[in-house]
Amino acid sequence: MTRMPAVQQDQLLDLRIERLSYGGEGVGRHDGFVVFVPRSVPGERVRARVLRRKRQYATAELEEVLEAAPDRVEPPCPYYARCGGCQLQHLSYAAQLANKQAEVAEALEKIGGLENLPLRPIIGAQETLGYRNKMVFHLMRRAGAVSLSLVGRSAGGGAVARGGRGKAPYQTNRQQIAIDACAILDARANALIPALNAALTRMLGDGPDTPPHESFGHLMLRLGVGTGHPMAMLGVAVPELAAAEQRQRWQPLIAALPEGASIWFNVMRRPWDEHFGRDSHHIHGPQTMRESVRGLSYELLPETFFQTNTRQAGLLMDLVVQWLNPRPDDLILDLYAGCGGLSLPLAQRCAAVLGVESAYSAILDGQMNARRNGLLNCSFRSGLAEKMLRKLWAEGLKASLVVLDPPRSGCHPKVIELLPRFPARELLYVSCSPPTLARDLKALAALGYEVIEVQPLDLFPQTYHVECLVRLRPGPALLHPPTGG
Ligand SMILES: C[S@@+](CC[C@H](N)C(=O)[O-])C[C@H]1O[C@@H](n2cnc3c(N)ncnc32)[C@H](O)[C@@H]1O
Repeated sequence: MTRMPAVQQDQLLDLRIERLSYGGEGVGRHDGFVVFVPRSVPGERVRARVLRRKRQYATAELEEVLEAAPDRVEPPCPYYARCGGCQLQHLSYAAQLANKQAEVAEALEKIGGLENLPLRPIIGAQETLGYRNKMVFHLMRRAGAVSLSLVGRSAGGGAVARGGRGKAPYQTNRQQIAIDACAILDARANALIPALNAALTRMLGDGPDTPPHESFGHLMLRLGVGTGHPMAMLGVAVPELAAAEQRQRWQPLIAALPEGASIWFNVMRRPWDEHFGRDSHHIHGPQTMRESVRGLSYELLPETFFQTNTRQAGLLMDLVVQWLNPRPDDLILDLYAGCGGLSLPLAQRCAAVLGVESAYSAILDGQMNARRNGLLNCSFRSGLAEKMLRKLWAEGLKASLVVLDPPRSGCHPKVIELLPRFPARELLYVSCSPPTLARDLKALAALGYEVIEVQPLDLFPQTYHVECLVRLRPGPALLHPPTGG
Protein backbone atom coordinates (compact mmCIF):
# COMPACT_ATOMS: atom_id res chain seq x y z
CA MET A 1 0.00 0.00 0.00
CA THR A 2 1.46 3.40 -0.96
CA ARG A 3 1.41 6.04 1.75
CA MET A 4 -0.06 9.42 0.95
CA PRO A 5 2.64 12.11 1.07
CA ALA A 6 2.46 14.17 4.26
CA VAL A 7 1.67 17.35 2.36
CA GLN A 8 0.65 18.13 -1.18
CA GLN A 9 1.13 20.99 -3.56
CA ASP A 10 -1.37 23.83 -2.94
CA GLN A 11 -2.58 22.28 0.32
CA LEU A 12 -3.58 24.78 3.00
CA LEU A 13 -1.90 23.98 6.31
CA ASP A 14 -2.51 25.21 9.83
CA LEU A 15 0.96 25.31 11.37
CA ARG A 16 2.61 26.27 14.64
CA ILE A 17 5.99 27.85 13.90
CA GLU A 18 8.72 26.32 16.07
CA ARG A 19 11.86 28.22 15.12
CA LEU A 20 13.62 30.09 12.32
CA SER A 21 15.85 28.28 9.85
CA TYR A 22 19.28 29.55 8.87
CA GLY A 23 17.92 31.78 6.11
CA GLY A 24 15.21 33.33 8.26
CA GLU A 25 12.24 31.15 7.31
CA GLY A 26 9.81 29.98 9.95
CA VAL A 27 9.85 26.21 10.45
CA GLY A 28 6.67 24.31 11.28
CA ARG A 29 5.61 20.67 11.03
CA HIS A 30 2.58 18.99 9.54
CA ASP A 31 2.28 15.41 10.80
CA GLY A 32 6.01 15.60 11.52
CA PHE A 33 6.82 16.77 7.97
CA VAL A 34 8.97 19.93 7.94
CA VAL A 35 7.44 22.98 6.27
CA PHE A 36 9.32 26.26 5.73
CA VAL A 37 7.19 29.41 5.85
CA PRO A 38 8.97 32.68 4.99
CA ARG A 39 7.86 35.77 6.97
CA SER A 40 6.48 33.75 9.88
CA VAL A 41 7.65 34.07 13.49
CA PRO A 42 8.44 31.38 16.07
CA GLY A 43 5.44 30.82 18.36
CA GLU A 44 2.90 31.90 15.74
CA ARG A 45 0.03 29.88 14.37
CA VAL A 46 -0.26 30.50 10.65
CA ARG A 47 -2.22 29.36 7.65
CA ALA A 48 0.16 28.62 4.77
CA ARG A 49 -0.24 27.25 1.26
CA VAL A 50 2.24 24.63 0.04
CA LEU A 51 4.14 25.90 -2.97
CA ARG A 52 6.72 23.22 -3.42
CA ARG A 53 7.15 19.79 -1.91
CA LYS A 54 10.48 17.99 -1.79
CA ARG A 55 11.25 14.56 -0.32
CA GLN A 56 12.30 15.88 3.08
CA TYR A 57 10.46 19.18 3.38
CA ALA A 58 8.02 21.60 1.80
CA THR A 59 8.01 25.36 1.26
CA ALA A 60 4.77 27.21 1.87
CA GLU A 61 3.53 30.74 1.39
CA LEU A 62 2.14 32.62 4.37
CA GLU A 63 -1.59 33.20 3.79
CA GLU A 64 -2.69 34.39 7.20
CA VAL A 65 -1.29 34.86 10.67
CA LEU A 66 -3.84 33.14 12.94
CA GLU A 67 -2.06 33.91 16.23
CA ALA A 68 0.64 36.57 16.02
CA ALA A 69 3.79 36.38 18.13
CA PRO A 70 4.77 39.43 20.22
CA ASP A 71 8.00 39.72 18.16
CA ARG A 72 6.05 40.44 14.97
CA VAL A 73 6.32 44.04 13.71
CA GLU A 74 5.06 45.92 10.66
CA PRO A 75 7.82 45.65 8.00
CA PRO A 76 9.19 49.14 7.26
CA CYS A 77 9.49 48.50 3.52
CA PRO A 78 6.43 48.37 1.22
CA TYR A 79 8.18 45.83 -1.05
CA TYR A 80 9.08 43.42 1.73
CA ALA A 81 6.39 40.82 1.03
CA ARG A 82 7.61 40.42 -2.54
CA CYS A 83 11.32 41.35 -2.48
CA GLY A 84 13.96 38.70 -1.81
CA GLY A 85 16.62 41.00 -0.35
CA CYS A 86 15.53 41.08 3.32
CA GLN A 87 14.21 38.13 5.30
CA LEU A 88 13.63 39.51 8.81
CA GLN A 89 11.82 42.84 8.47
CA HIS A 90 8.71 41.35 10.09
CA LEU A 91 10.69 40.66 13.30
CA SER A 92 11.47 43.23 15.99
CA TYR A 93 15.15 44.15 15.95
CA ALA A 94 15.65 42.61 19.39
CA ALA A 95 14.23 39.32 18.05
CA GLN A 96 16.44 39.54 14.95
CA LEU A 97 19.49 39.81 17.17
CA ALA A 98 18.37 36.98 19.45
CA ASN A 99 17.83 34.83 16.39
CA LYS A 100 21.29 35.59 15.01
CA GLN A 101 22.88 34.82 18.36
CA ALA A 102 21.06 31.46 18.45
CA GLU A 103 22.07 30.77 14.84
CA VAL A 104 25.76 31.22 15.67
CA ALA A 105 25.50 29.05 18.80
CA GLU A 106 23.70 26.32 16.89
CA ALA A 107 26.17 26.28 13.98
CA LEU A 108 29.14 26.11 16.34
CA GLU A 109 27.57 23.29 18.27
CA LYS A 110 25.95 21.23 15.52
CA ILE A 111 28.40 21.73 12.65
CA GLY A 112 31.54 22.53 14.63
CA GLY A 113 30.94 20.11 17.47
CA LEU A 114 32.14 22.97 19.72
CA GLU A 115 30.20 23.14 22.95
CA ASN A 116 30.42 25.61 25.83
CA LEU A 117 32.37 28.10 23.76
CA PRO A 118 32.86 31.59 25.21
CA LEU A 119 30.19 33.15 23.01
CA ARG A 120 29.65 36.84 23.75
CA PRO A 121 26.27 38.55 23.29
CA ILE A 122 25.81 39.88 19.75
CA ILE A 123 26.61 43.54 19.12
CA GLY A 124 23.68 45.15 17.31
CA ALA A 125 23.66 48.05 14.88
CA GLN A 126 22.66 51.62 15.69
CA GLU A 127 21.13 51.99 12.25
CA THR A 128 18.84 49.17 11.27
CA LEU A 129 17.71 50.86 8.02
CA GLY A 130 19.50 52.91 5.37
CA TYR A 131 22.87 51.36 6.23
CA ARG A 132 23.98 49.78 2.96
CA ASN A 133 26.61 51.56 0.88
CA LYS A 134 26.05 49.41 -2.20
CA MET A 135 23.24 47.79 -4.15
CA VAL A 136 23.20 45.92 -7.45
CA PHE A 137 19.89 46.53 -9.21
CA HIS A 138 18.47 44.65 -12.15
CA LEU A 139 17.39 46.72 -15.15
CA MET A 140 13.81 46.15 -16.12
CA ARG A 141 12.20 47.58 -19.24
CA ARG A 142 8.46 47.83 -19.68
CA ALA A 143 6.75 49.86 -22.42
CA GLY A 144 10.05 51.55 -23.22
CA ALA A 145 10.65 52.74 -19.66
CA VAL A 146 13.67 51.39 -17.79
CA SER A 147 13.52 51.04 -14.03
CA LEU A 148 15.88 49.82 -11.36
CA SER A 149 14.46 46.69 -9.85
CA LEU A 150 15.22 44.05 -7.27
CA VAL A 151 14.65 40.35 -7.60
CA GLY A 152 11.69 39.06 -5.67
CA ARG A 153 11.09 36.01 -3.55
CA SER A 154 10.82 32.90 -5.64
CA ALA A 155 7.35 31.48 -6.01
CA GLY A 156 7.99 28.25 -4.21
CA GLY A 157 11.75 28.18 -3.96
CA GLY A 158 12.22 29.65 -0.51
CA ALA A 159 12.63 33.16 0.78
CA VAL A 160 15.95 33.86 -0.85
CA ALA A 161 15.48 33.89 -4.59
CA ARG A 162 17.99 31.96 -6.61
CA GLY A 163 17.54 31.81 -10.35
CA GLY A 164 18.44 28.92 -12.56
CA ARG A 165 21.93 29.17 -14.01
CA GLY A 166 22.04 31.40 -17.06
CA LYS A 167 18.36 32.23 -16.87
CA ALA A 168 16.80 35.65 -16.56
CA PRO A 169 14.54 36.17 -13.56
CA TYR A 170 11.53 36.10 -15.84
CA GLN A 171 12.63 32.70 -17.14
CA THR A 172 12.60 31.30 -13.62
CA ASN A 173 9.89 31.58 -10.99
CA ARG A 174 11.16 34.93 -9.69
CA GLN A 175 9.51 38.29 -10.11
CA GLN A 176 11.30 41.57 -10.69
CA ILE A 177 10.12 44.47 -8.60
CA ALA A 178 10.65 48.04 -9.76
CA ILE A 179 11.42 50.07 -6.67
CA ASP A 180 11.53 53.76 -5.77
CA ALA A 181 13.78 53.18 -2.79
CA CYS A 182 15.31 50.33 -0.83
CA ALA A 183 14.79 50.51 2.93
CA ILE A 184 18.27 49.28 3.80
CA LEU A 185 20.14 51.42 1.26
CA ASP A 186 21.74 54.75 2.23
CA ALA A 187 19.20 57.59 1.75
CA ARG A 188 21.62 59.55 -0.46
CA ALA A 189 21.81 56.61 -2.87
CA ASN A 190 18.02 56.15 -2.79
CA ALA A 191 17.57 59.82 -3.70
CA LEU A 192 19.35 59.16 -7.00
CA ILE A 193 16.96 56.41 -8.18
CA PRO A 194 14.29 58.55 -9.95
CA ALA A 195 16.91 60.44 -11.97
CA LEU A 196 18.71 57.18 -12.77
CA ASN A 197 15.49 55.60 -14.04
CA ALA A 198 14.87 58.59 -16.32
CA ALA A 199 18.48 58.57 -17.56
CA LEU A 200 18.49 54.84 -18.26
CA THR A 201 15.19 55.16 -20.13
CA ARG A 202 16.74 57.83 -22.36
CA MET A 203 19.90 55.78 -22.86
CA LEU A 204 18.44 52.34 -23.34
CA GLY A 205 14.64 52.53 -23.36
CA ASP A 206 14.21 52.06 -27.08
CA GLY A 207 17.81 51.98 -28.30
CA PRO A 208 18.28 49.95 -31.50
CA ASP A 209 20.87 47.83 -29.71
CA THR A 210 19.03 47.40 -26.39
CA PRO A 211 18.42 43.68 -25.86
CA PRO A 212 14.73 42.85 -26.41
CA HIS A 213 14.41 41.22 -22.99
CA GLU A 214 12.38 42.71 -20.15
CA SER A 215 15.25 42.07 -17.75
CA PHE A 216 18.44 43.05 -19.50
CA GLY A 217 21.30 44.02 -17.21
CA HIS A 218 22.42 45.55 -13.94
CA LEU A 219 23.29 48.84 -12.34
CA MET A 220 25.59 48.83 -9.35
CA LEU A 221 25.20 51.92 -7.20
CA ARG A 222 27.79 52.54 -4.51
CA LEU A 223 28.29 55.46 -2.17
CA GLY A 224 31.07 56.32 0.24
CA VAL A 225 29.14 56.74 3.50
CA GLY A 226 31.94 58.77 5.04
CA THR A 227 32.42 60.93 1.93
CA GLY A 228 29.09 60.99 0.06
CA HIS A 229 31.04 60.08 -3.09
CA PRO A 230 28.95 57.99 -5.55
CA MET A 231 29.93 55.36 -8.09
CA ALA A 232 27.77 53.65 -10.69
CA MET A 233 28.56 50.72 -12.94
CA LEU A 234 26.14 49.93 -15.74
CA GLY A 235 26.27 46.35 -17.00
CA VAL A 236 24.52 45.53 -20.26
CA ALA A 237 25.26 43.23 -23.18
CA VAL A 238 25.74 46.20 -25.54
CA PRO A 239 29.50 46.19 -26.25
CA GLU A 240 29.15 49.23 -28.53
CA LEU A 241 28.67 51.43 -25.45
CA ALA A 242 32.38 51.08 -24.70
CA ALA A 243 33.39 52.80 -27.96
CA ALA A 244 34.73 56.36 -27.76
CA GLU A 245 32.26 57.55 -30.42
CA GLN A 246 29.38 56.38 -28.20
CA ARG A 247 30.34 58.67 -25.31
CA GLN A 248 27.49 61.05 -26.14
CA ARG A 249 25.04 58.27 -25.21
CA TRP A 250 26.35 58.35 -21.65
CA GLN A 251 25.35 62.00 -21.12
CA PRO A 252 21.98 61.24 -19.46
CA LEU A 253 23.65 58.98 -16.88
CA ILE A 254 26.47 61.46 -16.28
CA ALA A 255 23.89 64.24 -15.78
CA ALA A 256 21.78 62.08 -13.41
CA LEU A 257 24.66 61.60 -10.97
CA PRO A 258 26.31 64.27 -8.83
CA GLU A 259 29.39 66.05 -10.16
CA GLY A 260 32.51 63.94 -9.61
CA ALA A 261 30.71 60.59 -9.56
CA SER A 262 32.70 57.65 -10.84
CA ILE A 263 30.99 55.94 -13.78
CA TRP A 264 31.90 52.56 -15.27
CA PHE A 265 30.57 50.28 -17.97
CA ASN A 266 30.64 46.51 -17.70
CA VAL A 267 30.21 44.54 -20.88
CA MET A 268 27.95 41.67 -19.99
CA ARG A 269 28.10 38.53 -22.09
CA ARG A 270 24.36 37.83 -22.09
CA PRO A 271 21.45 40.08 -21.07
CA TRP A 272 20.26 37.58 -18.48
CA ASP A 273 23.58 36.90 -16.76
CA GLU A 274 23.32 36.95 -12.96
CA HIS A 275 26.62 38.74 -12.49
CA PHE A 276 28.77 41.36 -14.11
CA GLY A 277 31.28 40.15 -16.69
CA ARG A 278 35.06 40.55 -16.55
CA ASP A 279 35.32 43.39 -19.07
CA SER A 280 34.91 46.80 -17.40
CA HIS A 281 35.54 50.23 -18.95
CA HIS A 282 35.96 53.52 -17.15
CA ILE A 283 33.56 56.10 -18.59
CA HIS A 284 33.56 59.28 -16.51
CA GLY A 285 34.82 60.91 -13.32
CA PRO A 286 37.50 59.42 -11.08
CA GLN A 287 38.23 55.73 -11.51
CA THR A 288 37.72 54.96 -7.85
CA MET A 289 35.09 55.72 -5.22
CA ARG A 290 36.33 57.26 -1.98
CA GLU A 291 35.26 55.94 1.38
CA SER A 292 36.50 57.02 4.78
CA VAL A 293 36.30 55.07 8.00
CA ARG A 294 37.98 55.78 11.36
CA GLY A 295 40.18 58.46 9.82
CA LEU A 296 41.43 56.10 7.09
CA SER A 297 40.80 56.84 3.46
CA TYR A 298 39.93 54.01 1.04
CA GLU A 299 39.78 54.18 -2.75
CA LEU A 300 37.74 51.43 -4.37
CA LEU A 301 37.54 50.21 -7.94
CA PRO A 302 34.05 48.92 -8.85
CA GLU A 303 34.91 45.22 -8.42
CA THR A 304 36.74 45.64 -5.11
CA PHE A 305 35.13 44.22 -1.98
CA PHE A 306 34.32 46.55 0.88
CA GLN A 307 31.99 45.88 3.80
CA THR A 308 28.52 47.03 2.74
CA ASN A 309 27.78 48.55 6.14
CA THR A 310 30.41 51.25 6.57
CA ARG A 311 29.49 52.26 10.12
CA GLN A 312 29.52 48.70 11.43
CA ALA A 313 32.72 48.10 9.43
CA GLY A 314 34.29 50.79 11.64
CA LEU A 315 33.20 48.84 14.69
CA LEU A 316 34.58 45.64 13.19
CA MET A 317 37.94 47.36 12.62
CA ASP A 318 37.96 48.56 16.25
CA LEU A 319 37.27 45.06 17.53
CA VAL A 320 39.90 43.44 15.32
CA VAL A 321 42.53 45.90 16.54
CA GLN A 322 41.39 45.61 20.15
CA TRP A 323 41.36 41.81 20.14
CA LEU A 324 44.66 41.33 18.32
CA ASN A 325 46.21 44.16 20.34
CA PRO A 326 49.31 44.28 18.10
CA ARG A 327 52.76 45.04 19.52
CA PRO A 328 55.06 47.46 17.72
CA ASP A 329 57.27 44.57 16.51
CA ASP A 330 54.44 42.34 15.21
CA LEU A 331 54.30 41.08 11.63
CA ILE A 332 50.65 40.43 10.76
CA LEU A 333 49.53 38.19 7.93
CA ASP A 334 46.10 39.30 6.69
CA LEU A 335 44.62 36.55 4.53
CA TYR A 336 41.70 37.50 2.24
CA ALA A 337 42.72 41.13 2.72
CA GLY A 338 40.52 42.85 0.12
CA CYS A 339 41.71 46.45 -0.35
CA GLY A 340 43.05 46.57 3.21
CA GLY A 341 39.83 47.00 5.20
CA LEU A 342 41.53 45.40 8.20
CA SER A 343 45.18 45.61 7.10
CA LEU A 344 45.32 49.41 7.31
CA PRO A 345 44.07 49.90 10.89
CA LEU A 346 46.38 47.06 11.97
CA ALA A 347 49.34 48.57 10.12
CA GLN A 348 48.92 51.73 12.23
CA ARG A 349 49.93 49.69 15.28
CA CYS A 350 52.55 47.13 14.27
CA ALA A 351 55.81 46.68 12.39
CA ALA A 352 54.27 45.35 9.17
CA VAL A 353 51.15 43.86 7.61
CA LEU A 354 51.20 41.58 4.60
CA GLY A 355 47.81 41.23 2.90
CA VAL A 356 47.07 38.28 0.62
CA GLU A 357 44.21 38.74 -1.82
CA SER A 358 43.08 37.08 -5.04
CA ALA A 359 41.15 39.93 -6.73
CA TYR A 360 43.45 42.05 -8.83
CA SER A 361 41.38 45.24 -8.42
CA ALA A 362 41.56 44.86 -4.63
CA ILE A 363 45.34 44.46 -4.76
CA LEU A 364 45.66 47.66 -6.81
CA ASP A 365 43.36 49.48 -4.38
CA GLY A 366 45.12 48.04 -1.33
CA GLN A 367 48.52 49.24 -2.51
CA MET A 368 47.16 52.67 -3.30
CA ASN A 369 45.28 52.85 0.02
CA ALA A 370 48.41 51.96 2.00
CA ARG A 371 50.32 54.76 0.24
CA ARG A 372 47.51 57.32 0.57
CA ASN A 373 47.35 56.72 4.29
CA GLY A 374 51.12 56.85 4.70
CA LEU A 375 51.25 53.21 5.82
CA LEU A 376 54.34 52.08 3.97
CA ASN A 377 54.62 49.06 6.29
CA CYS A 378 51.52 47.57 4.65
CA SER A 379 51.99 45.53 1.48
CA PHE A 380 49.93 43.10 -0.56
CA ARG A 381 50.60 39.89 -2.48
CA SER A 382 48.30 38.84 -5.25
CA GLY A 383 47.12 35.23 -5.34
CA LEU A 384 44.94 32.58 -3.83
CA ALA A 385 45.50 32.26 -0.09
CA GLU A 386 45.77 28.47 -0.41
CA LYS A 387 48.66 28.82 -2.87
CA MET A 388 50.30 31.93 -1.47
CA LEU A 389 50.52 30.50 2.04
CA ARG A 390 52.81 27.67 0.94
CA LYS A 391 54.98 30.17 -0.95
CA LEU A 392 55.23 32.47 2.06
CA TRP A 393 56.18 29.56 4.29
CA ALA A 394 58.87 28.50 1.80
CA GLU A 395 60.15 32.09 1.83
CA GLY A 396 60.44 31.88 5.61
CA LEU A 397 57.76 34.42 6.55
CA LYS A 398 57.41 34.59 10.33
CA ALA A 399 53.96 36.01 11.10
CA SER A 400 53.28 36.67 14.77
CA LEU A 401 49.53 37.25 14.23
CA VAL A 402 47.21 36.01 11.48
CA VAL A 403 43.85 37.37 10.31
CA LEU A 404 41.49 35.25 8.22
CA ASP A 405 38.52 37.02 6.62
CA PRO A 406 37.36 34.65 3.87
CA PRO A 407 34.29 34.95 1.64
CA ARG A 408 31.08 33.11 2.57
CA SER A 409 32.51 29.78 1.41
CA GLY A 410 35.08 29.91 4.22
CA CYS A 411 38.76 28.94 4.07
CA HIS A 412 40.19 26.47 1.58
CA PRO A 413 41.23 23.29 3.47
CA LYS A 414 44.84 23.91 2.38
CA VAL A 415 44.83 27.23 4.20
CA ILE A 416 43.81 25.57 7.45
CA GLU A 417 46.31 22.77 6.93
CA LEU A 418 49.19 25.21 6.37
CA LEU A 419 48.43 27.62 9.23
CA PRO A 420 50.35 25.68 11.93
CA ARG A 421 53.55 26.30 9.95
CA PHE A 422 53.35 29.98 10.87
CA PRO A 423 54.41 30.67 14.43
CA ALA A 424 51.53 33.03 15.20
CA ARG A 425 50.61 33.62 18.82
CA GLU A 426 46.99 34.29 17.83
CA LEU A 427 44.61 33.88 14.90
CA LEU A 428 41.60 36.07 14.33
CA TYR A 429 38.91 34.57 12.12
CA VAL A 430 36.34 37.05 10.74
CA SER A 431 33.39 35.29 9.16
CA CYS A 432 30.13 36.22 7.46
CA SER A 433 28.81 32.65 7.43
CA PRO A 434 28.29 30.71 10.68
CA PRO A 435 28.07 27.29 8.93
CA THR A 436 31.42 27.56 7.14
CA LEU A 437 32.97 29.23 10.20
CA ALA A 438 31.88 26.26 12.32
CA ARG A 439 33.28 23.82 9.76
CA ASP A 440 36.65 25.63 9.73
CA LEU A 441 36.81 25.96 13.52
CA LYS A 442 36.29 22.23 13.80
CA ALA A 443 39.26 21.66 11.48
CA LEU A 444 41.38 24.22 13.36
CA ALA A 445 40.48 22.62 16.70
CA ALA A 446 41.53 19.23 15.32
CA LEU A 447 44.93 20.75 14.50
CA GLY A 448 45.34 22.00 18.07
CA TYR A 449 43.98 25.57 18.05
CA GLU A 450 41.85 26.69 20.97
CA VAL A 451 38.96 29.10 20.66
CA ILE A 452 39.33 31.93 23.18
CA GLU A 453 36.21 33.93 22.40
CA VAL A 454 33.51 34.42 19.80
CA GLN A 455 31.82 37.74 19.11
CA PRO A 456 28.79 37.93 16.78
CA LEU A 457 28.24 41.34 15.25
CA ASP A 458 25.28 42.55 13.19
CA LEU A 459 26.44 44.09 9.93
CA PHE A 460 23.26 43.19 8.07
CA PRO A 461 20.05 44.23 9.91
CA GLN A 462 16.75 43.00 8.39
CA THR A 463 18.53 40.07 6.73
CA TYR A 464 19.52 36.67 8.13
CA HIS A 465 23.24 37.34 7.66
CA VAL A 466 25.54 37.73 10.65
CA GLU A 467 29.23 38.51 11.09
CA CYS A 468 31.40 36.75 13.67
CA LEU A 469 34.85 37.33 15.12
CA VAL A 470 36.70 34.41 16.63
CA ARG A 471 39.94 34.59 18.50
CA LEU A 472 42.10 31.45 18.51
CA ARG A 473 45.36 30.50 20.13
CA PRO A 474 47.67 27.58 19.40
CA GLY A 475 47.18 24.96 22.10
CA PRO A 476 49.90 22.72 23.59
CA ALA A 477 49.87 20.40 20.54
CA LEU A 478 51.04 23.26 18.35
CA LEU A 479 53.90 24.52 20.45
CA HIS A 480 56.37 22.85 18.11
CA PRO A 481 55.10 23.39 14.56
CA PRO A 482 56.12 20.83 11.90
CA THR A 483 59.18 21.73 9.86
CA GLY A 484 58.80 19.34 6.90
CA GLY A 485 57.50 20.37 3.41
C1 LIG B 1 35.04 39.03 3.14
S1 LIG B 1 36.15 39.79 2.04
C2 LIG B 1 37.29 40.46 3.19
C3 LIG B 1 38.06 41.67 2.74
C4 LIG B 1 38.83 42.46 3.78
N1 LIG B 1 39.36 41.68 4.85
C5 LIG B 1 38.03 43.62 4.29
O1 LIG B 1 37.77 43.67 5.50
O2 LIG B 1 37.68 44.50 3.51
C6 LIG B 1 36.96 38.43 1.33
C7 LIG B 1 38.04 38.76 0.31
O3 LIG B 1 38.69 37.54 -0.04
C8 LIG B 1 39.01 37.56 -1.42
N2 LIG B 1 39.17 36.14 -1.80
C9 LIG B 1 38.22 35.25 -2.15
N3 LIG B 1 38.76 34.04 -2.32
C10 LIG B 1 40.10 34.16 -2.08
C11 LIG B 1 41.19 33.25 -2.08
N4 LIG B 1 41.02 31.95 -2.36
N5 LIG B 1 42.42 33.72 -1.76
C12 LIG B 1 42.60 35.04 -1.46
N6 LIG B 1 41.60 35.95 -1.45
C13 LIG B 1 40.35 35.51 -1.74
C14 LIG B 1 37.86 38.32 -2.06
O4 LIG B 1 38.28 38.88 -3.28
C15 LIG B 1 37.55 39.37 -0.98
O5 LIG B 1 38.29 40.55 -1.23
